Amino acid sequence: MNNQYSAGIIGTGSYLPEKILKNEELEKIMDTSDEWIRTRTGIISRRIADKEMATSDLATKAAINAMKNANITADELDLIIVATVTPDMAFPSTACIVQKNIGAVNAAAFDMEAACTGFVYALTIGEQFIKTGFYKKILIIGAEIFSKIIDWEDRNTAVLFGDGAGAVILVRTEKNTGIISSYLGSDGKDGHVLTLPGGGSRNPINHKMIEDRLHYLKMDGSEVFKFAVRIMGNAALKVLEKADMTLEDIDFLIPHQANIRIIEASAKRLKLPMDKVYVNLNKYGNISAASVPVALDEAVREKRIKSGDNVLLVAFGAGLTWGSSLIKWI
Ligand code: ACO
Repeated sequence: MNNQYSAGIIGTGSYLPEKILKNEELEKIMDTSDEWIRTRTGIISRRIADKEMATSDLATKAAINAMKNANITADELDLIIVATVTPDMAFPSTACIVQKNIGAVNAAAFDMEAACTGFVYALTIGEQFIKTGFYKKILIIGAEIFSKIIDWEDRNTAVLFGDGAGAVILVRTEKNTGIISSYLGSDGKDGHVLTLPGGGSRNPINHKMIEDRLHYLKMDGSEVFKFAVRIMGNAALKVLEKADMTLEDIDFLIPHQANIRIIEASAKRLKLPMDKVYVNLNKYGNISAASVPVALDEAVREKRIKSGDNVLLVAFGAGLTWGSSLIKWI
């Protein structure tokens, strides 16, 4: 592809709800233990949004922080993409609600769904709009309120997830800076291992659907685990290959934050020491599409990423989906 422009991130932002739910508190409401959760997942606590809050509320706060860090105003934005599987409602899109909240009067807006890979998918979509010259400034958000789709009676899943939002501002940059290469994949045939079956056109909302608890997330954890360990390494290697780069060229890895064992296995396969890998799942659990942008924002604010670094983002999620982005940090 012979594109005229490159796309790079000039600002990041995030927002995590204030309420902290620790493993010890989960021990009181279900048959689990802090010890089990820590050793099996690495998670110690997660953030939970207030009952009144919707995903757009979190997304809006993350977007405002990203715009501030990028030193741009909302009217400069051409497009808003929100990656989420927990939208405020079926329609209008959460992106349109954010567009109204921040006053992005010149922006188009849409949601996209690839579960925990959502942010990497959205970033890659944004990249294409910039590379072709169609748009100049794009707000990309990953935002979720998983606490409202978790079955709090299912200890297999309830302990794993949390709420939050992360955002980036993507703009035209000098050639060969910013996003160097991207890779996306999917495998719908194994999609049944991670689903939310109720509430759509297959199992519409009715009493029976709710009695059967189909409006809650269902997961075959060990199948997802095996898939994740395999695909994280593959996706990382693929994006490097596309960029004609090798493992030695990676300065920092931002992996999807689902389970410390998945992250450590991926780092080992990629021969990366853990001090080059960002981990915050101990504080937040798995925040799905918000996981990668929240981690990226924290890594930037902690100065773990510096100008010129090759930063690798890798994620996997329901679908099944996976994706990776290699970014030369501006
Ligand atoms: N507390 C205590 N015991 C538990 C809990 C809990 N919260 N949850 C499960 N157990 C029990 C199980 O019942 C099982 O007991 P049994 O042997 O008597 O039947 C036992 O612990 C072991 O369960 P396993 O499934 O073998 O545990 P495993 O080591 O595989 O860890 C886990 C489970 C943490 C879910 C792991 O498989 C995992 O992380 N999978 C990946 C999940 C993931 O990444 N999901 C996000 C996908 S991204 C997206 O798009 C949303």
